[in-house]
Amino acid sequence: MSQGPLVIQFAMRMEAAPLLAAGHFQPISLSVPDHRYGFLIHQGQTRLGNEVIVAIAGIHPRDQVDSIGTLSAGLLTHVLISQFQPRMIINAGTAGGFHARGGQVGDVYLGESPVVFHDRRVQLPGNFPRFSEGHRPVRHDLELRQALGLKAGVVSSGDSLDCTDEDMKHLLRLGASVKEMEAAAIATICEARAVPLVLLKSITDIVDDHPQSEGLSTEEQFLKNYSFAVSSLIAKLESVIEWYSR
Ligand code: ADE
Repeated sequence: MSQGPLVIQFAMRMEAAPLLAAGHFQPISLSVPDHRYGFLIHQGQTRLGNEVIVAIAGIHPRDQVDSIGTLSAGLLTHVLISQFQPRMIINAGTAGGFHARGGQVGDVYLGESPVVFHDRRVQLPGNFPRFSEGHRPVRHDLELRQALGLKAGVVSSGDSLDCTDEDMKHLLRLGASVKEMEAAAIATICEARAVPLVLLKSITDIVDDHPQSEGLSTEEQFLKNYSFAVSSLIAKLESVIEWYSR
């Protein structure tokens, strides 16, 4: 394994903010002109004293919102690996969960292999179905999961926050416990570049119908529960970083 740094990759500024605020970090520049994409990179130490690089997909230069989704995530991963040769990437973020799989708001999942896409469907002969759905490996250490009391589950990515009936059909077929918007793209790059990838995802909303969602839409649940889910995420993330820094 490379001796390079541990990189923590986020999609949204507010997901990374508590980790950055609790530690000692400096903004750094990328060697490629990163202002065109809005990537935000910090280097420093977490509250527990572990050296990491924190990379955020950042603020889209035109639309001035967080650059969520698979395109920015994959591009950022490519740039990070090219510049830093990380020994591991931890992709941390928020996600939707499934009541049918025991998911609750604030649960933190350690992703299991394979990580998939639920909205890339190409039923052509040959390997097109598998290629489209991704099915990439991720690092999942049972000992770590048990030590931190994390949930285990398959993470599925797509480029929409909502969930159509067709998406739901494929999420169920793929056995997803976690629905989010970046991991499968990051895994595509990590597999190609032989960098181990850990997925840590905290639940903001319940995707399948359940009284816990109180009739709220995905968007309403997301906004209501976001701060709580981010606090749960960061509490676990600091320990995951400590684990992989020993
Ligand atoms: N991030 C948080 N909740 C999500 C959901 N339901 N789908 C995709 N990404 C999310």
